[in-house]
Amino acid sequence: MAKNQPSPEIKFFSGQHIPVELHKVRMVQKLHLKPVEERLEAMEKGGYNTFQLNTRDIFLDMLTDSGTNAMSDNQISSMLQADDAYAGSQSFYRMEQAVRQVFGKHFVLPVHQGRAAENIISQAFIKPGDAIPMNYHFTTTKAHMELNGGEVLEIYTDEALKIKSNVPFKGNIDINRLNKVIEKYGAKHIPFIRMEASTNLIGGQPFSVQNMREVRAVAEKHQIPVVLDASLIGENAWFIKKREEAYQNASIAEILLTMCGLADIVYFSSRKVSSTRGGGICTDSEELYMKMRDLVVLYEGFTTYGGISVREIEAMAVGLYETTDETVIAQSPSFIEYAVNTLDSLGVPVVTPAGALGCHIDAMGFLPHVPQEEYPAGALAAALFIVSGIRGMERGTISSVRDKEGNDVLADVELLRLAFPRRVFTLSQTMFMIDRVNWLFQNRHLVGGLRFTEEPAVLRFFNGRLTPTSPWPQKLVEKFREDFGQSL
Ligand code: F0G
Repeated sequence: MAKNQPSPEIKFFSGQHIPVELHKVRMVQKLHLKPVEERLEAMEKGGYNTFQLNTRDIFLDMLTDSGTNAMSDNQISSMLQADDAYAGSQSFYRMEQAVRQVFGKHFVLPVHQGRAAENIISQAFIKPGDAIPMNYHFTTTKAHMELNGGEVLEIYTDEALKIKSNVPFKGNIDINRLNKVIEKYGAKHIPFIRMEASTNLIGGQPFSVQNMREVRAVAEKHQIPVVLDASLIGENAWFIKKREEAYQNASIAEILLTMCGLADIVYFSSRKVSSTRGGGICTDSEELYMKMRDLVVLYEGFTTYGGISVREIEAMAVGLYETTDETVIAQSPSFIEYAVNTLDSLGVPVVTPAGALGCHIDAMGFLPHVPQEEYPAGALAAALFIVSGIRGMERGTISSVRDKEGNDVLADVELLRLAFPRRVFTLSQTMFMIDRVNWLFQNRHLVGGLRFTEEPAVLRFFNGRLTPTSPWPQKLVEKFREDFGQSL
């Protein structure tokens, strides 16, 4: 391997480390920054859940990168050649070709988004009583696995949940623990081992190729398939190039093929990996493919569209090829690195090293006076929106589920995620975010907790409603006016 593919690097005469956009903006959307009182009103109306906000009230939407990455000119123009056909659409064959070239897998099933792939895979392979070892769960993954009677086993390393760390691959699986769980549960109760690229819920932290090779060796020994969640694979590949010595001269395309080559099934949310809509599952095994194919027809649509519009399928193909372009995939992680390092230098507790997807603020470190039972990450998300118009996402206890007795299961980490969709925000917007987070940190004693007023039984974080445990939001608004005057 290892052709010579050094990263494009831009140095400043001043010695400062500033990320530079290697794209230009050719279409824009006007944003609205409303007065703080109106933001408080919007938050109240939204039940202190940032999922319930209307984008009309939002300045910077840092909720997620899912379906919000900027598309390229080539992606948008490709949509014009979409081939409308229920069956046998040429758009699908172009996408299939892209998956074969970029992920190196022959059999391709389109699905309407990532969680649809999780539904198909869970239904096809998980039986009641099974256990699925993985580096860390994702909300929708866990929900589908448990619905099919499976148990999620997180076998991360000791470093994974440490907020401050300089370990480059916090998304690695602990191989000793993997061996132990296989011994305990028995290989026949383990339908597959799941590895998630750029492990979402622990702060977008990557795993190394070395670790995946070790996982593969254990899996092969016990004849257990490896399933790779490739929703954030481009960024994980970029971190491998930056942080894993053996790959520093490899191209992203080579690293992607290496990673996928170590998995039996690769699935992805195209809302993330290719900056479009849709998703997919791919494998080289005809046997595994046949176990999933008819479920796609049942739940998604015919096997040449899988519930995705043909226009989006065209853009998916182009987006997948663009995932091999380092200047495309490096933009979000390099802005995140800038934000994380600046916040860290200001003393704000953030997950380090900087990962993929977003800047992750440690809400328990930020609001040590708010008990975990009062959802510090949810409270911090609400407070930041009120003082800035920035929408982030709670990734903590609200995002987990209650146990069988109805008790809250306190999350391992309480994070406020501020997502950086690819090529969407500018550096000055990033600086605005940093400034307001810093102000909130100086005034953190004003932020209190939340409690549920309406709590759905499944994936409660999406549609749940909460209320503050004291009138702290009003006090926050008063202090904002005191410090910022009439400023927005
Ligand atoms: N796997 C990972 C690692 C994800 O991050 C997501 C979605 C999914 C699967 C499900 O894909 O949304 O297309 O159904 N993550 C989004 C987020 C929702 O905001 O992090 P989907």
